[in-house]
Parts: sequence; C-alpha cells; structure tokens
Amino acid sequence: MTMTKMLVGKITDIDPKGSRTFRVNETEIALFRLSGGEVLAVENKCPHKGGTLSDGMVCGSKVHCPLHDWKIDLHSGAVQEPDTGCVTTFEVEIDENSGSIYVTV
Ligand code: FES
Repeated sequence: MTMTKMLVGKITDIDPKGSRTFRVNETEIALFRLSGGEVLAVENKCPHKGGTLSDGMVCGSKVHCPLHDWKIDLHSGAVQEPDTGCVTTFEVEIDENSGSIYVTV
C-alpha cells in the first residue's frame, strides 16, 4: 500500500476536545484535538459495533464511543480493558508556522 501525506486542514479548524472527519476512499478518518493541543487521527469506526467515534466524548487521550461507552486510546488505537480490540491509527504532523495538519494515510 502506498502511503500519502495529505493536508487535511488547520489546527484552528478543530476546537480543543473536538473532532473533524475526512474520507479517504472507503475509510472515514476522525481527527481529535486533545485539550493539550495534540492532534491524533484514527479510523472513525468503533471496533465493537461501528459507532462513530467522532461523536464521542474526548477524555484525556481517550475517546468514549457514543454507542456503548468503550474507551479507545487515541495514541495506540487500543480499546481499554475489559473490552478488547483496536482501531487503525494514522500519523499526524502539524506545521508549526502555518498550523496545517498533515495525515499520512
Ligand atoms: S459500537 Fe462502540 S462501544 Fe459499541
């Protein structure tokens, strides 16, 4: 699979603890801005029953799935125990001068 670095927006487009989504072919990706300013990207689909993670609440570096409250670590993509599973994560880079967000997909 070829990796592509995509410009997906600016940091100021996302509120702290908020999210944005974009689509690459069949995959919807959610960008989350943590309260500390970090931006992380994961597939926008809960590994449980496909809940839309971008509608979930961000708490620290986890998002709580809006459907059944599974907690997913946005750094590793791992689901918090006792639940199990993992979502795909994507590398994010932010240009400090322009605030542009690039995601490698
Ligand atoms: S679909 Fe996410 S917790 Fe059930």
